[in-house]
Amino acid sequence: MSHAAAFPGFTGSPTSTRAAVAARATDLSKVYGQGDTRVVALDSVSVEFGKGQFTAIMGPSGSGKSTLMHCMAGLDAISSGSARIGDVELASLNDKQLTRLRRDKIGFIFQAFNLLPTLTALENITLPMDIAGRKPDREWVSRVVETVGLSGRLAHRPAQLSGGQQQRVAVARALAAQPEIIFADEPTGNLDSRSGAEVLGFLRESVQAMNQTVVMVTHDPVAAGYADRVVFLADGRIVEELHEPTADTVLDRMRLFDAKGRTS
Ligand SMILES: Nc1ncnc2c1ncn2[C@@H]1O[C@H](COP(=O)(O)OP(=O)(O)O)[C@@H](O)[C@H]1O
Ligand SMILES: [Mg+2]
Repeated sequence: MSHAAAFPGFTGSPTSTRAAVAARATDLSKVYGQGDTRVVALDSVSVEFGKGQFTAIMGPSGSGKSTLMHCMAGLDAISSGSARIGDVELASLNDKQLTRLRRDKIGFIFQAFNLLPTLTALENITLPMDIAGRKPDREWVSRVVETVGLSGRLAHRPAQLSGGQQQRVAVARALAAQPEIIFADEPTGNLDSRSGAEVLGFLRESVQAMNQTVVMVTHDPVAAGYADRVVFLADGRIVEELHEPTADTVLDRMRLFDAKGRTS
């Protein structure tokens, strides 16, 4: 007799229902500098990012959010532990293999937009695919461009665009190649609330409709409310996790940390 028949309401073993993992950190530590300037930016962090899951990373300034994103995206070498994209251990790759993995599997949206000034908005968006020799899926690219509200700006160069528009180009660039995982470091930090909501709605939709995996650093409880879960960092450690967050539950949790911070 199966478990399901024996236990009404039993929906299967945890292993059978567990979603595939897009990226995983295990006991990941990152130390910068040495001696007097030694900083433990990440202190034995273990976390999984499931395929098709939208995770928000929150925590005070200096808590290690950007470092975690950079280490997971292979932009920064880890000091100890493990960082994997799918089944691939990043530390096992040579420079060339790492470059290829970043190009083919990872989208990164930086706090600073990192656009090439001599290229138009459209050229910036398709650049990673051009470099990879991949043909952009035109229908998808135009849907991305339309959703982030750039249709009338494709021939403009970054200097001819506002900060908000430049960030939307960076978001479109990450989404256009349909990477396996997107890391976004405060992607709406420089956007007005309306453009920010559009970008967040689009990230949400790419998760829902395309099974895109997104990991996003944010300070904003409203932005975190778009995610499936929130992971809170403090002093390089994961201190709390929240599932199915809303802006209100995130705000409550942040207030709790603030109160703890003051009393300890
Ligand atoms: N390149 C670096 N060299 C030295 N220390 C760094 C470097 N990058 C980050 N740090 C330190 O690591 C800690 C975590 O930084 P970071 O990940 O940028 O935090 P967050 O993104 O949460 O604000 C901070 O104390 C910061 O000063
Ligand atoms: Mg940061």
